Amino acid sequence: MNRIVWITGGSSGIGAALVKKYSDSGYYVIATARSKGQLEKVASSSNYPENIKIFPADLEKVHELSKIIQSVWNIFDGIDLVILNAGIGQWGEVKDTEMSVERKIFELNFWSPVQSIKLLIPKMENKGSGKIICVGSIASQFGQAKLAAYSASKSALTLYLESLKEELRYSKVKVKLVSPGNIKTSIMKSALTHNGKKLNKVGQAQEKGMTTQKLAKKIFKFEKQEKFHKFFTGIEGLAVLLHKFSPKLFYYIYRNLSRRKK
Ligand SMILES: NC(=O)c1ccc[n+]([C@@H]2O[C@H](COP(=O)([O-])OP(=O)(O)OC[C@H]3O[C@@H](n4cnc5c(N)ncnc54)[C@H](OP(=O)(O)O)[C@@H]3O)[C@@H](O)[C@H]2O)c1
Repeated sequence: MNRIVWITGGSSGIGAALVKKYSDSGYYVIATARSKGQLEKVASSSNYPENIKIFPADLEKVHELSKIIQSVWNIFDGIDLVILNAGIGQWGEVKDTEMSVERKIFELNFWSPVQSIKLLIPKMENKGSGKIICVGSIASQFGQAKLAAYSASKSALTLYLESLKEELRYSKVKVKLVSPGNIKTSIMKSALTHNGKKLNKVGQAQEKGMTTQKLAKKIFKFEKQEKFHKFFTGIEGLAVLLHKFSPKLFYYIYRNLSRRKK
């Protein structure tokens, strides 16, 4: 019997690559994002479109998640693996950014996975097994200008999951966390600016980043391992260590690099 995976944010970037990787590997995939057209494109351009069901939904509407998750669960009468990947970027200084924008970022990047996890765990425990992987970010590890709410949302998600992992020590349901560095996607195009409008720019760091196909392969492999958390980065991964052991040096280098980019 094919295993069943639900992938959120499956219409582009990392999520689209995961949809292809899992369907290529014999899984039945349910892909969710808001854009039905984009989900259809991802499914039809994959090698096994017959293995992919699309389920368009707005996951920022946390109060609707109960209905959404029940419907997704019913498609194959159960889910073995969930990859909560849908997320939104940010580009704006705290002093200019409207509170509603910061709330919106938290709604999708933090509250939506939290509510989804709460709804999925009892169902998976009842079924006897299940795995939930969240896509965090290297940005959870240190503060950067114009990314305050984004970094905070990923940081909150990181510690939430680390705590939950302890609670689930003796459960048949497991949670895992992946923290990518710079990945070549158009996340900065849809990133929210101070007033909630899309940034609509190509992210320079992302352009030089790891391809989504490479990351999808790594996540696929990691999912089968015992480990709870893994970073998937290029050279920028060194920033995590540097920030941990010498925050002063970290911000000296960070400021110099930021100045050069201007
Ligand atoms: N790219 C990087 O460098 C990087 C690094 C670290 C972590 N990440 C994380 O990786 C994840 C995927 O990002 P990405 O880089 O692949 O960016 P992306 O290409 O912009 O993908 C974001 C996905 O989330 C979906 N989405 C956005 N708002 C949604 C909503 N309200 N309801 C349902 N789906 C929604 C988007 O589809 P629709 O617009 O159709 O809804 C899209 O499929 C995010 O959690 C991001 O924070 C990315």
